Amino acid sequence: MESYEVKEHDVLVIGAGGAGLRAAIEASAQGVSVGLVCKSLLGKAHTVMAEGGMAASLSNADPRDNWEVHFRDTIRGGKHINNWQMVEIFCQEAADRVSELEEWGALFDRTKEGLIAQRNFGGHRYPRLAHVGDRTGLELIRTLQNYGIHQGFEVYMECCVVELIKEKDQVCGAFGFWRESGQFIVFKAKSVVLATGGLGKVYRVTSNSWEGTGDGHALAYRAGAELVDMEFVQFHPTGMVWPPSVQGILVTEGVRGEGGILKNSDGKRFMFEYIPDAFAAETSDSEEEASRWLKGDPEARRPPELLTRDVVAKAIRSERIAGRGSPHGGAFLDIASQRDAEYIKKKLPSMYHQFMKLGNLDITSTPMEVGPTCHYVMGGVRVEPETAMTTVKGLFAAGEVAGGLHGANRLGGNSLTDLLVFGARAGFHSAKYSKEIAEALNPSEDLLKKMERFSLEPFDPERTENPYSVMADLQETMEINAGIVRTKDEMEKGLELLQDLKNRGEKVRVEGNRQYNPAWHYALDLKNLLCVAEAITLAALNREESRGGHTREDFPESSEYFQNVNSFISDKEGSMFIENREREPMPEHLEKLL
Ligand code: FUM
Repeated sequence: MESYEVKEHDVLVIGAGGAGLRAAIEASAQGVSVGLVCKSLLGKAHTVMAEGGMAASLSNADPRDNWEVHFRDTIRGGKHINNWQMVEIFCQEAADRVSELEEWGALFDRTKEGLIAQRNFGGHRYPRLAHVGDRTGLELIRTLQNYGIHQGFEVYMECCVVELIKEKDQVCGAFGFWRESGQFIVFKAKSVVLATGGLGKVYRVTSNSWEGTGDGHALAYRAGAELVDMEFVQFHPTGMVWPPSVQGILVTEGVRGEGGILKNSDGKRFMFEYIPDAFAAETSDSEEEASRWLKGDPEARRPPELLTRDVVAKAIRSERIAGRGSPHGGAFLDIASQRDAEYIKKKLPSMYHQFMKLGNLDITSTPMEVGPTCHYVMGGVRVEPETAMTTVKGLFAAGEVAGGLHGANRLGGNSLTDLLVFGARAGFHSAKYSKEIAEALNPSEDLLKKMERFSLEPFDPERTENPYSVMADLQETMEINAGIVRTKDEMEKGLELLQDLKNRGEKVRVEGNRQYNPAWHYALDLKNLLCVAEAITLAALNREESRGGHTREDFPESSEYFQNVNSFISDKEGSMFIENREREPMPEHLEKLL
């Protein structure tokens, strides 16, 4: 057994996107010692892929907006199965967190009066997204980073966590390695905050980058925490499908928020055909009215391109299946015919530049070819709404890795604010928890040895499987068997295939040594991806209805039973166990807002 580098902090934050940075800032402000671990370089996080804005009822664009309307929209968007306690906290605190970000240096776009500008996004009743062109996530990260580095926390970059350390039912640190040297590192901590983001890499087509491998979900599950609503995965309707040089890159919903329209191969604006009854009263049913909306008529209803993401993604899929898709299997997103070139360049500068540079495509004159791409997971680690503590002592979670807030479907723009609101809460409460503990428990040598063995298994020369091919097969399996539309037969088959992939996963072999060895990193990521793949499939098979991001071809309607329950996954003697539990009823003062 080798000797480990050991670092000790009161609070260890794993993940350095928006939620992790905000948690580290808050915990440091409480006067405790904080370590922030990032798998990648600081600033490289999926947060930047929330481009179009952060939702908060600042009421700058429409005075009728307030936290109560935001609450209503979020619950309706989440198809009524959100954790309403989280939604209430979220909508009430959103505006303060955005204003605070501005105080820390975020440069938001302004209205003529000098207020923070807010734009339209799907499912939001009023223009609600504070934004910085189409680079809002980037600005959020830049601001938190610039502010954060002066708050005294220590940053561990390019450092991967393999397992949480738990002694006496309490999380007391993490075991990891440096990506560059491959050397192990042990973090001792009184509490740990998971802020690891999502799991998009479990699908073949995703807006997520290589880091999105469900690490926090799997670490929490293996440490004994519960996962909630894992069936709900969000497919963003507009990932680029063509040209190949930009395939998979996200086209911000801001393009539709600024007036972009969707057309099929017949040139027809098809979203008028897909307006669900529940949204009919607030959605334009004619091009004439939608065009009045674009000109700023406050009486006009929102265009159907701004229906929630689940509805738009499924509509594009249906057009493709009906043979009216674009040449490469998507739909046309056209802003060129709706806005002049100067406007597009001003409001959507990154979209304009990136597609021009990377794809030789001028979006001010040419429609884009877009289609659904896995963008986000609504399901995640179950947390206590006030404190962000999981069901395991000393373990907290915030941001995408935590479940409950967004219900069956997240509204665009709610994720950036989620990171700020619950990142701050997780930072505060983890620090408070740490202060109440005299000393972090010491991990036993036996446990550390076991983690070392677990990490080094892929170097065993007896093993035979290639991690890249297992990963590719896993992504294909999930795309086909638990993708955007699901059936019992496909998912049962999917679970069988996953069992086979798990067996293969236990035999993956990597060559070479531990110094910067991406195949080894891949092999370790694979364990986490296999875990979340099983959780998604099991939960999707369990929910015999269609709701939000979860569509069952064999159960196309929503059911009353499932409206009242959330699904919970936990480890029972080494197997994944799922149960449905009823939600606490919403109190009257909130119920009446709906
Ligand atoms: O389309 C977007 O800009 C993504 C935003 C989000 O996921 O919140």
